[in-house]
Amino acid sequence: MTESRFLIVESVAELRTRRRALNGTVGFVPTMGYLHAGHLALVAQAARENDHVIVSIFVNPTQFGPNEDFSRYPRNTERDLALLRDSAVDLIFMPPVAAIYPPGFQTAIEVSEVSQGLEGGRRPGHFRGVATVVCKLFNLVQPDRAYFGQKDAQQVAVIRQMAIDLDFPLDVVIAPTKRAPDGLALSSRNTYLTLVEREAAPVLYRALLGAALAYHEGQRDSETLRQIMLEALAAEPMVAVDYVSVADAGTLREQEGELTRRTLFSLAVRIGKTRLIDNLVLEAVAPKTG
Ligand code: PAJ
Repeated sequence: MTESRFLIVESVAELRTRRRALNGTVGFVPTMGYLHAGHLALVAQAARENDHVIVSIFVNPTQFGPNEDFSRYPRNTERDLALLRDSAVDLIFMPPVAAIYPPGFQTAIEVSEVSQGLEGGRRPGHFRGVATVVCKLFNLVQPDRAYFGQKDAQQVAVIRQMAIDLDFPLDVVIAPTKRAPDGLALSSRNTYLTLVEREAAPVLYRALLGAALAYHEGQRDSETLRQIMLEALAAEPMVAVDYVSVADAGTLREQEGELTRRTLFSLAVRIGKTRLIDNLVLEAVAPKTG
């Protein structure tokens, strides 16, 4: 039996005390729990690159809209702790909601431009909630490096901008999207899918790969590339498209006409009651091979 090496901390005061006692660099991985291999890859990278690792598990109510899945978001602390048992985590911060948002809480962080469009356009207030909680967590954990997944491309852009604008003395590190063997991006929300829905879900990645292939063959017309994704998604009757996007990877602005810059291909769909997102970033110049 491996003995767990981490300490579980629930209060802000104890987190501050324990954090101060850590010497050397600290890598931080914020999560909402229900961990999967994507989260664990972030933890492993943080462990490789820092002397200490802090993970937070907090289902943040302010980033869920009134008709979203906050109350039914999957939670399983025992499972999460078991998954982290063999990883090099020093502290797990698992605050109750009232520790993060005590009565009278009234501040929010708004990263205006990159929060618009894509997920921000479909989920009003979502990135305000994300930026606010991550700002608080950065202040509490005071990491040297914070780790985020490319899976949530717009979230990464929002956090990066916030870290720059608010002078957080840390590096925002982006890790590649972890996928199931059939291409589906790992997500805590995949657990909502029924068996047949799960079988339909790899169409998201297929649609992105279809656009990537056309792009590598020289297709640079943004509308044609959006159409390629839409057609691929249309092949799967269980999928209702929320959006497909071909956007500037830096500004996240939707691109019209000929693509010349690093481009974010992204999409959001509903399969049954479950909303899924995925993305790929393609360079303007195809990488040299050989
Ligand atoms: P959560 O969805 O739990 O994700 C935690 C981190 O894991 C995020 O940085 C996310 O991008 C990353 N991640 C999720 N799936 C991944 C995958 N398949 N491959 C690689 N990384 C993946 O994102 C959040 O929580 C919250 O918004 C949070 C940042 C914790 C603020 O509440």
